[in-house]
Amino acid sequence: MVFSWRGGPGSRRLLLSLLLLAVWKVGSGQVHYSVSEEAKHGTFVGRIAQDLGLELAELVPRLFRVASKGRGDLLEVNLQNGILFVNSRIDREELCGRSPECSFHLEVIVDRPLQVFHVEVEVKDVNDNPPVFSVSEQKLSIPESRLLDSRFPLEGASDADVGENAMLTYRLSPNEFFVLDVINKKDKGKFPVLVLRKLLDREENPQLQLLLTATDGGKPELMGSVSLLILVLDANDNAPIFDRSLYEVKMYENSANQTLVIWLNASDADEGLNKEMMYSFSSLVSPSIRRKFLMNERTGEIRVNDAIDFEDSNTYEIHVDVTDKGIPPMVGHCTVLVEILDENDNSPEVAVTSLTLPVREDAQVGTVIALISVSDRDSGTNGQVTCSLTPHVPFKLVSTFKNYYSLLLDSALDRESVANYEVEVIARDGGSPSLSATASVSVEVADVNDNAPAFAQPEYMVFVKENNPPGCHIFTVSARDADAQENARVSYSLVERRVGERALSSYVSVHAESGKVYALQPLDHEELEPLQFQVSARDAGVPPLGSNVTLQVFVLDENDNAPALLPPGAGGGGGAVSELVARSVGAGHVVAKVRAVDADSGYNAWLSYELLPAAGGVRSPFRVGLYTGEISTTRALDEADLPRQRLLVLVKDHGEPALTATATVLLSLVESGQVPKASSRASKGTTDPEVTLVDVNVYLIVAICAVSSLLVLTLLLYTALRCSAPPTEGACVPGKPRLVCSSAMESWSYSQQRRQKVCSGEGPPKTDLMAFSPSLPPCSVLDAKVEEQSIGGDQSRKERITEENYDDFRTRKTLQ
Ligand SMILES: *[C@@H]1O[C@H](CO)[C@@H](O)[C@H](O)[C@H]1NC(C)=O
Ligand SMILES: *[C@@H]1O[C@H](CO)[C@@H](O)[C@H](O)[C@H]1NC(C)=O
Ligand SMILES: *[C@@H]1O[C@H](CO)[C@@H](O)[C@H](O)[C@H]1NC(C)=O
Repeated sequence: MVFSWRGGPGSRRLLLSLLLLAVWKVGSGQVHYSVSEEAKHGTFVGRIAQDLGLELAELVPRLFRVASKGRGDLLEVNLQNGILFVNSRIDREELCGRSPECSFHLEVIVDRPLQVFHVEVEVKDVNDNPPVFSVSEQKLSIPESRLLDSRFPLEGASDADVGENAMLTYRLSPNEFFVLDVINKKDKGKFPVLVLRKLLDREENPQLQLLLTATDGGKPELMGSVSLLILVLDANDNAPIFDRSLYEVKMYENSANQTLVIWLNASDADEGLNKEMMYSFSSLVSPSIRRKFLMNERTGEIRVNDAIDFEDSNTYEIHVDVTDKGIPPMVGHCTVLVEILDENDNSPEVAVTSLTLPVREDAQVGTVIALISVSDRDSGTNGQVTCSLTPHVPFKLVSTFKNYYSLLLDSALDRESVANYEVEVIARDGGSPSLSATASVSVEVADVNDNAPAFAQPEYMVFVKENNPPGCHIFTVSARDADAQENARVSYSLVERRVGERALSSYVSVHAESGKVYALQPLDHEELEPLQFQVSARDAGVPPLGSNVTLQVFVLDENDNAPALLPPGAGGGGGAVSELVARSVGAGHVVAKVRAVDADSGYNAWLSYELLPAAGGVRSPFRVGLYTGEISTTRALDEADLPRQRLLVLVKDHGEPALTATATVLLSLVESGQVPKASSRASKGTTDPEVTLVDVNVYLIVAICAVSSLLVLTLLLYTALRCSAPPTEGACVPGKPRLVCSSAMESWSYSQQRRQKVCSGEGPPKTDLMAFSPSLPPCSVLDAKVEEQSIGGDQSRKERITEENYDDFRTRKTLQ
């Protein structure tokens, strides 16, 4: 039997050492081998035959064999060379578990002779087992609030090997929070402990992943590791915070209810309940702000809950707290500054603060009438107010100071034109759209006595019939005063003067209030010159103002004088006219003349003559000239005519009623021889008066002609003016009749200063001839000549008579 041996020089050295060891064992009496576990198949264990003293040759014959209780196949002997070698894998841990010594027993049996040898094989440990942890990951939950040096035991690793191979050392992966402490247990082995070296912060590192490594003492060493998952548990160590401590919000006033002001978002680094937050107004917040704003506790929204008025308050400072639900709770703070923006929601206000009324119409330009203040509760341009006035008033606004104005008089006032002004002050702000307000000031203009009473005309003509009853009202003067009240209360008085020997006031009086002018006694046309006087009108102002008006009173003639017969001779005493008439005179011969005068004037003095029918119905051969008073024959006289003829001539004026006088003419018919003397006497005696009488009548006729032509002229002139002249103020006033007074021969213009007298020789002075024009509107051009009169409609009648009579007269004259 041969031991097979294969191997290099290294194996030889190992073999040598094993041999020496085996020898040593034999020496001690029993063969002893040792083999490492996990040795490869064929690994030399020992020269068992040699060591037992057996010959190699006898091994086979003697049936050499190795017996092992249950483990016979682990080792085997090469019968060729007697070497014990490893047959199959030897696991020390399987054979002996964790016992430190491990060996097994081999019985070697040979026959012929039967011999039994005992061989002890020691199995030596090899580091074939790494340290092992029971789990691949260990979880630890550690509150972040744990203090430093807190210890957390860990489960250690186990190693199936023994001795050095099972001597474990631990290492922890590098980290800042934990270090490893290893505790040696009494019953061998160690266990690791984590020690907290730095405070944990869940918020920073919610979990840590560490690696724990165990290393055994074998050569080569083996390692095992376990991952440590450290969950950091939350503690309420973080207060909720806002990302800013001050929020500024701008919003317009009058925002709708529930408008969002701001949505606050606080954050809390903690988790769970520690992170749940509640928003609230801080206790510093005033009740008024709590009323205006509503805080949603859960979401942190602040909304409008009441009317927001810029004018109430333009900023709100809201302190907000946020509290988490941890125990104990933690609180965060912030401030919300709400700035309210103005809207143009307030109209300006205008106030008239003081007023000096009424304003005298003579007030100086620049007089302050009222002080006006404006205001607007809005701010900025919304509150900038400009003031203006209604146009076309004599006032202006002057700004005295911001928002204060004076209402000044801008131009002269005249109460008589405008007595009251309604002034509107309009205040307008600068917003858009702008708002405005108005205030009205009623400015009353006080009267000043600046207007004198004024008569419509500077001069009036008054026509009064003579023989008026005493105290009769002849005219009313009336002056207007444009002022008011006392300043317009006019009183009238007479401007006293002397009229001849008497005072004016003995003739006329003026009622102070009514302005009625009374004639105090009967006025006599024949006595009074046209009475001229002035009436003064004064108002009751202080000082009073006055003006005068001139009254021309014409006393109109009344037919109060009957015609008076003039005697045939120069200075005769009236009565009968007796003439001698030659029987030989032919028809139409003037035989006598009746002369009469009338103290009245005009128509009242215009005489006509007519023959009264003789008694007994005898046809008289005589007639009388209607206006001449000449008695002439109608036919040749004959013998049949009575020698003495008595004629009654009625002399009649044209007054109304007419007054008459009767003249008796005695005619004696004589033979032709007797006549001349008488007739020459008669003619001599009657020539001058007759001429005068004829003259008077010629005057009358000329006058009447002239009146008619004047009428035509006036009409023409009037028409011409009317057509050419532009209508000027007061130029034409329709209506009242005009009186034209004429001087008999010279001019038709009337002169109030001069008076023409027409004398009829023996008769009393004749006053002016008066004629009346028909109702024509007067023209200003004619004012100098034509004066207004108000004596009613009489004149038109007289005018008619004038014309009729004139025509009548002319025809008769022509006939003669
Ligand atoms: C809070 O959050 C809401 C919703 O994300 C957002 O609309 C709002 O603007 C935030 N508030 C602030 C003050 O950032
Ligand atoms: C605003 O709305 C709230 C809730 O709807 C209500 O209680 C409050 O009276 C309202 N405020 C006004 C001023 O209308
Ligand atoms: C009116 O007449 C009187 C007397 O002639 C005179 O004294 C007075 O001044 C006159 N008044 C006016 C306003 O002309």
